[in-house]
Amino acid sequence: MELYRSHVLICGGTGCTSSGSDKIEARFHEEIKKNGLEKEVKVIRTGCFGLCEVGPVVVVYPEGSFYAHVKEEDAKTITEEHLLKGRIVKDLLYYESIEEDSDQVKSINEVEFYKKQVRRVLRNCGVIDPENIEEYIAMDGYAALGKVLTEMEPADVINIMKQSGLRGRGGGGFPTGVKWSFAAGAKGDQKYMICNADEGDPGAFMDRSVLEGDPHAIIEAMAIAGYAIGSSQGYVYIRAEYPIAVHRLEIAIGQAKENGLLGKDIFGTGFDFDLEIRLGAGAFVCGEETALLQSIEGFRGMPRPKPPFPANKGLWQKPTIINNVETLANIPQIILNGAEWFASIGTEKSKGTKVFALGGKINNTGLIEIPMGTTLREVIYDIGGGIPNGKKFKAVQTGGPSGGCITYEHLDQPLDYDNLIALGSMMGSGGMIVLDEDNCMVDIARFFLDFTVDESCGKCTPCREGTKRMLEMLVKITSGQGEEGDIEKLEKLAYTIKDSALCGLGQTAPNPVISTIRYFRDEYEAHIRDKKCPAGVCKNLLTYYITDACIGCTKCARNCPVNCISGEVKKLHVIDSDNCIKCGACMEACPVDAIIKR
Ligand SMILES: Cc1cc2nc3c(=O)[nH]c(=O)nc-3n(C[C@H](O)[C@H](O)[C@H](O)COP(=O)(O)O)c2cc1C
Ligand code: SF4
Ligand code: SF4
Ligand code: SF4
Ligand code: FES
Repeated sequence: MELYRSHVLICGGTGCTSSGSDKIEARFHEEIKKNGLEKEVKVIRTGCFGLCEVGPVVVVYPEGSFYAHVKEEDAKTITEEHLLKGRIVKDLLYYESIEEDSDQVKSINEVEFYKKQVRRVLRNCGVIDPENIEEYIAMDGYAALGKVLTEMEPADVINIMKQSGLRGRGGGGFPTGVKWSFAAGAKGDQKYMICNADEGDPGAFMDRSVLEGDPHAIIEAMAIAGYAIGSSQGYVYIRAEYPIAVHRLEIAIGQAKENGLLGKDIFGTGFDFDLEIRLGAGAFVCGEETALLQSIEGFRGMPRPKPPFPANKGLWQKPTIINNVETLANIPQIILNGAEWFASIGTEKSKGTKVFALGGKINNTGLIEIPMGTTLREVIYDIGGGIPNGKKFKAVQTGGPSGGCITYEHLDQPLDYDNLIALGSMMGSGGMIVLDEDNCMVDIARFFLDFTVDESCGKCTPCREGTKRMLEMLVKITSGQGEEGDIEKLEKLAYTIKDSALCGLGQTAPNPVISTIRYFRDEYEAHIRDKKCPAGVCKNLLTYYITDACIGCTKCARNCPVNCISGEVKKLHVIDSDNCIKCGACMEACPVDAIIKR
């Protein structure tokens, strides 16, 4: 390998790419060439760095200088100053990279966002070029596959997975080693290994980021799993809406085949394993394992009852293992570092780390990886940087549409599978949406139910009809038509659906309603009894008022689309509530915050 004096790492994750990091990369190449630095500086397009909020991100090594919100023209400045003259461009650094009251510049690893994180699954994301197999190999890539094929029996591989305590990261949290042992013990001339990269949860992008940043880790893990269960054929079922991930995976599979790491007689051991991509059908329910199998077989993705479980009767009725992307990304490292190493962090029943997509009302939106058992407070305040605009933290919705809310009182609760369930929420695949005082919890429940009603496949009545009835009741409550007894009716219906729906989608769809009633019953009551939305979100329950703070500047009246504000210049203005369409334009226009809604 050639030696370079500096490396310029440009984020090529979906977030930064959509804000122009491909153009920034082109510009760096141009400027580096112009300054004759091609032999000294190497430009690399990586996967996501995690702190997507401040993207596009560029990191320059060896210093680890963390440039944020980079624009195309900054490539010229960074090249001429940093790369040519060795002067870090402080004005372009992420603000936290500069020590307060000092000239000292911190490297990316010292930035608060990363301090409490442990990047195992994401260890190569933002570090290597995902389109270059040599970079993966340089990070011990394919060494675990080599070890498994040359030194271990399939049963040893399954044992080490069991000992590590790894549980599935796709939502259910089932122990991976135990699941593999079912397929290994099942009879069948052909077995299949499937990677579930459907990731349909709103707000989740963990699996996408792993595939974009480190696709070889998934290929290696699938080959290891294939060896453990006795499968020679794998499929990656991936969302068609993830074009960058699909592209990089295609490149990686091609490279693995060229290098003899997929295909026939891998490492000369006689083990064959091939891998193909199948594009998802674009429905959330296709992520459910039995629906996914139907979809690969060419049918409409509809779940079927379990048992039989896929480990016994899966794809084309053959024993099949389906694992989530993040679950798989852990596997090569468990083989290389051992079960004890993996279990050295986490809680008693939830070992290792978990990747979360942190979004909503939080300063540092992005991708984080934390040891299981980290508290919600550490996530929100230390890693997430707190709530924007000094607002009050209200709740976190975890587990996507099937999850629930954890609230202010739970800030010091450790995040792990069992504790989240005890709190009425769930880990799910790792979506984490932060809510502040301006979010209405009844409206949030309505939002998630709206999603599940849309995504219900319609096969069973409780889910097809029941979730619709629940949604109708929530719409009724949020529009001010709620009646006494509605909360109890909602709860009854919720538990009935949970108990009788055929698949996980219906069984968990009522969770957001159950958990918001559990923790925010007073908000439901305010909507129903007082016809008020305490957070000021539900339009029908709001009235806009002008307070005494009004200075009579007339801006509100000029911006009101229905001319329902009157008043003289420099005098208090008044809103005619009967004609107000509650658009909020006046509130936005007022320079002194004199307009309130209640
Ligand atoms: C409606 C629904 C959607 C799901 N979507 C996904 C998904 O997108 N990705 C995923 O890995 N698992 C998803 N699951 C869970 C899978 O059915 C399955 O449990 C998982 O892929 C198993 O892998 P693991 O053991 O590695 O977690 C979904 C489940 C349900 C009920
Ligand atoms: S629970 Fe919903 S998504 Fe699942 S099978 Fe029934 S109708 Fe389809
Ligand atoms: S909310 Fe809209 S319609 Fe109502 S007073 Fe303000 S600008 Fe006019
Ligand atoms: S914009 Fe604000 S200050 Fe100006 S007239 Fe309207 S309420 Fe008063
Ligand atoms: S996509 Fe660039 S930091 Fe996440």
